[in-house]
Amino acid sequence: MSPAMRILAGIVVIIVAALAAGLWVLRGPGPMAFSGGTTVALSDYRGTNPAGVPASLAQASLVERGAYLAKAADCMVCHTAPDGKQYAGGLGFKLPFGTLYSTNITPDKETGIGDYSDQDFLNALHRGVRRDGARLYPAMPYTSYTYLTDADALAIKAYLFSLPPVRAPAPANTLEFPFDQRWGMMFWSAVFNPDTRFEPDTSKSPEWNRGAYLAEALAHCGECHTPRNPAFALDNPKKFAGAITAGWRAFNISSDKQTGIGAWHDDDLISYLSTGHALGHGTASGPMGEAVDQSLSQLAPDDIRAIVAYLRSVPPTPSPDLPATLAPPAPASHKDGVTADARGKMVFEGACVSCHGWTGESPVSPFATLTGAWAVNDPGATNVAQIVIAGTRRNTPDGAISMPAFGDAYSDDEIAAVANYVTARFGGKGSKLTAQDVTELRKQVSQ
Ligand code: HEC
Ligand code: HEC
Ligand code: HEC
Repeated sequence: MSPAMRILAGIVVIIVAALAAGLWVLRGPGPMAFSGGTTVALSDYRGTNPAGVPASLAQASLVERGAYLAKAADCMVCHTAPDGKQYAGGLGFKLPFGTLYSTNITPDKETGIGDYSDQDFLNALHRGVRRDGARLYPAMPYTSYTYLTDADALAIKAYLFSLPPVRAPAPANTLEFPFDQRWGMMFWSAVFNPDTRFEPDTSKSPEWNRGAYLAEALAHCGECHTPRNPAFALDNPKKFAGAITAGWRAFNISSDKQTGIGAWHDDDLISYLSTGHALGHGTASGPMGEAVDQSLSQLAPDDIRAIVAYLRSVPPTPSPDLPATLAPPAPASHKDGVTADARGKMVFEGACVSCHGWTGESPVSPFATLTGAWAVNDPGATNVAQIVIAGTRRNTPDGAISMPAFGDAYSDDEIAAVANYVTARFGGKGSKLTAQDVTELRKQVSQ
């Protein structure tokens, strides 16, 4: 090695070491560390096994158990493109430095995971390593799935391998340098992936432990609801305090009484998670609507109750940008209340009032009541803009109607105007979205 090369190599080593030290500081506590109790290996735990399927499926076949677990883990939502075949991949994740596509996880040998051995599959789910040894980006939530037991992960594999193989190569990613360098994820993973299986907490009830397993290892609530640190890892000291993920705001679900779910009744949480709606708390739209429709609505009632028991124990972290109280219904006449934003009002009158009313209490369906929903009380108006762009395609409960998409019908300027009007009239504090903000929000949505 020439002296110049040696100096260069020395500099590279120092940079890598400094980066590693910095990342180590960012690592912080794990997702369940807040409980502060003693944990034991699952094999040493004396309570009911928190892993696996609910009692009603204890006798079910491996494939049926895998189907339940794959639903609870919501593999499908990310591995299916809009209008694409289920699990055939191709959904684009819009990152600040390019688009990353999910891959085909049907058992097709050439374009899917047909050649994956059991160990290959565990490497992908627990360690973020692909069959060919390449590193996966953490958009694939392996830092959550790492808590899955081997048995549960392999049940999911058995289910996926029971599906018809689909030939569908993943579109090429468009990540910019240096983010296109997969090997860099090796360092990220070494710091941020605990690569450990779920360990029950003996100071908590079996129900809490089941809830923790469901919420952390399977349903990965934190991937959307926990803010991220500068290294894109979950900032667990602010666990469940809310975050913007894929252009939608996943609101605070810590036990904070004002801006979290601390003041919700158990029944309301159960109803929201299993039907996507709770009277007086609004309706789950966007990514949460999908999580409810594809995953949570299909879980056993005891499992939903366990998630709620776990959720309740998460320490409160307030969201300072949200108002302390939700706004009451607006006046019945359009002449009273907020009059600002004549343009927004015109759009609302033309396209929205028939379903949402001037008060915000829907004349057609309780699902469409705006009063009490964080979306309209969020001065960022993120979800209001997204709902207007994309509409909703809820398909579960009786009496639910869908909201049409207006993204093609209205300009970004009109969408900003109606969002500003809606948040001013039905929320505590109006938003000040610009057309540019709406353009940016459109770009962030996975598709
Ligand atoms: C939040 C979105 C998301 C969810 C949920 C998700 N995945 Fe992924 N998955 C991805 C993305 C994105 C990739 C591609 C990552 C890359 O190329 O680095 C991926 C890649 C994979 C791979 C690697 C396949 C290959 O060889 O290219 C496997 C296996 C996989 N996922 C299985 C699963 C299973 C099983 C589940 C459910 C337990 C699941 N995924 C849930 C986003 C997701
Ligand atoms: C893919 C992202 C994603 C995942 C995963 C996810 N959520 Fe959400 N969640 C959201 C979004 C976005 C909203 C806001 C929906 C809206 O405004 O209509 C939301 C809203 C909620 C709300 C309503 C909060 C309020 O104050 O209005 C609750 C409760 C909730 N989620 C609980 C959960 C739980 C529990 C899990 C895991 C079992 C979970 N979520 C998983 C994205 C997600
Ligand atoms: C055909 C009836 C219909 C029309 C027209 C309609 N909506 Fe909706 N809207 C709904 C329904 C139903 C929901 C409940 C969400 C769901 O189904 O997931 C909803 C939800 C919403 C929400 C979110 C409420 C929450 O709980 O988080 C907002 C904000 C909203 N609509 C605004 C608008 C605006 C602004 C317009 C006009 C541009 C509009 N809607 C037009 C039916 C409608």
